[in-house]
Amino acid sequence: MATKVIVSLPGEEDYAVRIGQGVMDALGRDVRKIDRFAQTRDVLVITDSNVGPLYLAQARGSLSQAGFKVADLTVPAGEASKSPEVASEIWQAMAQLALGRDALVVALGGGVVGDLAGFVASTYMRGVGVVQVPTSLLAMVDSSVGGKTAVNLPEGKNLVGTFFQPSFVCADTSTLKTLPEREWLCGCGEIAKSAVIDSDDFFFWLMDHAEALAGRVDEDVIAEAIARSVVFKADVVARDKTETAGVRECLNYGHTLGHALEACAGFGKFSHGACVAEGMRFAAQVTVDELAQVDAEAAESAREFAQAQAELLDELGLVRFDLGAVSSGLNPEALLAAMKRDKKSRAGELRFVLVNDVSKWRVVGLDDDAVLGHLRSWV
Ligand SMILES: NC(=O)c1ccc[n+]([C@@H]2O[C@H](COP(=O)([O-])OP(=O)(O)OC[C@H]3O[C@@H](n4cnc5c(N)ncnc54)[C@H](O)[C@@H]3O)[C@@H](O)[C@H]2O)c1
Repeated sequence: MATKVIVSLPGEEDYAVRIGQGVMDALGRDVRKIDRFAQTRDVLVITDSNVGPLYLAQARGSLSQAGFKVADLTVPAGEASKSPEVASEIWQAMAQLALGRDALVVALGGGVVGDLAGFVASTYMRGVGVVQVPTSLLAMVDSSVGGKTAVNLPEGKNLVGTFFQPSFVCADTSTLKTLPEREWLCGCGEIAKSAVIDSDDFFFWLMDHAEALAGRVDEDVIAEAIARSVVFKADVVARDKTETAGVRECLNYGHTLGHALEACAGFGKFSHGACVAEGMRFAAQVTVDELAQVDAEAAESAREFAQAQAELLDELGLVRFDLGAVSSGLNPEALLAAMKRDKKSRAGELRFVLVNDVSKWRVVGLDDDAVLGHLRSWV
């Protein structure tokens, strides 16, 4: 059974996120029903070299059946394709195909393809429509919704991008069957983050279903975890579409240390999800330690939350790193330097999303000495 979540953002057309097994077969029909694409002829499907061989024919078939003239373009799988050079190749291909302003770009793949295709769609001829067809769990629960698009520069990730909402999101959960386990865990990290920030309802539901989610076979649980995450993300984005109201910052929970771990270990060594999970554990411990200095009772209750969160992450398969055994590159000084290179520092202070209980989050600025102290006791 398919689920539909409607994303309503101020100043934007509402859009639907359809979630379920086999929903890609109705992709063309669903897109055709959107007013903006009722008369559209040209569609460019952008995918990557892993996803294309698996799902391009299915996506193309559904779009062709709905009367679209479909072209496709495959980029190499991996973060390196999120570059201005690849974006430029796609703009040129679009121009050579003579795509006009009524054309549609379909992003078929994980977050890399979603961010890249969203970026080229938002900039080609000052913007053509984009539909997201996420095929990784992370893209289904996070990157396909909310409208952030980007490419990377050698100086840093996501440094050039736009806010550009899709017109439709088609999350076909059957595609997840071919997703490697490591990528599955990336999505689980983001689902856990969403549940912690969102509500008791989501958190305890996830506690009850973590084992089933980790097992990857219960379709209802998978679809519900995606739908709950999408509802959460859509609500956050509705309150802070362009990340200026301070609300969207909650989505960075676990990411300050997480990004630093990824950078210090060398990108690709650990999965993004494992790093985010470690960052969530770290942030929970920082909360306990900060509270212990001022309020023993509050610190005790934060400790209970940290314990519950640790159990949830363990059950999802996001087990703790043995940081000591990893490499000397993960020492506190190197991690601090990596955090400071990340764009989440403001006026020299590092900003952490701290959570003392489910849905009780705040952003705290910590100076270098405080962060080093916390890192030393953590590592
Ligand atoms: N825009 C946003 O709001 C937002 C949010 C979070 C992350 N991101 C971005 O998303 C990217 C990470 O996304 P990701 O984790 O999906 O990475 P990804 O797109 O690189 O996909 C991970 C790997 O899985 C493969 N894959 C995807 N779907 C598959 C399937 N169904 N079967 C087999 N293989 C499949 C891909 O080819 C790739 O090798 C990063 O660039 C990150 O910056 C964006």
